[in-house]
Amino acid sequence: MQKKYLMTPGPTPVPAEVLLAQAKPMIHHRTPEFNAVVRNSVEGLKYVFETTESDILIFSCSGTGAMESSIVNCFCAGDEILIAINGKFGQRMQLIAEAYGLEASVLEYGWQEVVDPRDIAAHLAAHPQTRGVVITQSETSSGVLNDVEAVGKIVREYPDCILIIDSITGIGAVECKTDEWGLDVVMTGSQKGLMLPPGLAAVSVSPKAWRAYERSTLPKYYFDWKKYLKSLGQDTTPFTPAVSLMIGLDVSLKMMREEGIDNVIARHSRLAEATRQGVEALGLELFAPAEGRGSAVTPVWVPEGIDGKELVKIMKNKHGVTIAGGQDEYTGRIIRIGHLGYFDDFDIIVTLSALEMALTELGYEFEPGSGIKAAESVLMA
Ligand SMILES: Cc1ncc(COP(=O)(O)O)c(C=O)c1O
Repeated sequence: MQKKYLMTPGPTPVPAEVLLAQAKPMIHHRTPEFNAVVRNSVEGLKYVFETTESDILIFSCSGTGAMESSIVNCFCAGDEILIAINGKFGQRMQLIAEAYGLEASVLEYGWQEVVDPRDIAAHLAAHPQTRGVVITQSETSSGVLNDVEAVGKIVREYPDCILIIDSITGIGAVECKTDEWGLDVVMTGSQKGLMLPPGLAAVSVSPKAWRAYERSTLPKYYFDWKKYLKSLGQDTTPFTPAVSLMIGLDVSLKMMREEGIDNVIARHSRLAEATRQGVEALGLELFAPAEGRGSAVTPVWVPEGIDGKELVKIMKNKHGVTIAGGQDEYTGRIIRIGHLGYFDDFDIIVTLSALEMALTELGYEFEPGSGIKAAESVLMA
């Protein structure tokens, strides 16, 4: 027998309470029972997104569907937008925007760099016709956290330009104050901080984003935001939703509410700090720069002479702990330890222990137990 630990930045572990709720016999979606699920979920998401001003729309799709929805609902072909890219998911936004014929200018950074809001300010000053700014808050590929609050202050000065935030690994892990920071469109996916299986995505839409919707002429049907808004008025969805996932969402949002969003975020930053201190005590180097480290995932350089793919494989097969490897040019060169969603202190200790064992097996020299000790001192502080 081997116990399994899912320590990836999505999909993430699902609490037993949520799994049990999802396992109940199916209900029909045009019923008062399901209307209550929709109503509660929208309220719960507003709490987690920290918004009273934006509408929250829920789609049965993965996060990429929400990304695509933000493009088709806010723009016209030929619109100029600005995309800040410092990782894989920013690149995906560019591909979607280009697929729909937008003129996307790109501010390209290295994966170990934080987006500089001053570059966005300079671009908008030079191109005031820009209709949208797109930025990933928490880059899952690199662990970098971008300062979307600072970007919000810049974009709010442009009445015809909206700010779109990919917070798919941000929501529930790091602060994301939708109203206070002036974030017009914020999106997340269910398999991340919301502690659910993959298959749902949520988007917040501000009054400014609704104005962009009104002028948008890009084709849309399944992802037409107005269809969802209209249905929400009757506590329902326009199409058959992922009923079991929605029932699970109602439960996971209640758990987040009980813990309190500030405590949820504080837990994530504590676990992230314990992970960072733990790997550094082993002599490993963190990938993300000190000025922009998020709490969702900790990417770590694989030490010289160690095969990163083998390290991930040993941790999974021999020790039951699944972490993620690097993507694109960092494949085999970094590992990524996820701690986003349903995680507590001992998940971090177990992971560091498995990492120590796997590194020992691969011949890496360090003081055994030093990573766990460093993490414990953070967790006991
Ligand atoms: C930051 C970010 N954006 C977008 C996505 C795409 O979401 P999905 O894989 O659910 O389509 C992910 C998924 O990992 C992500 O981490």
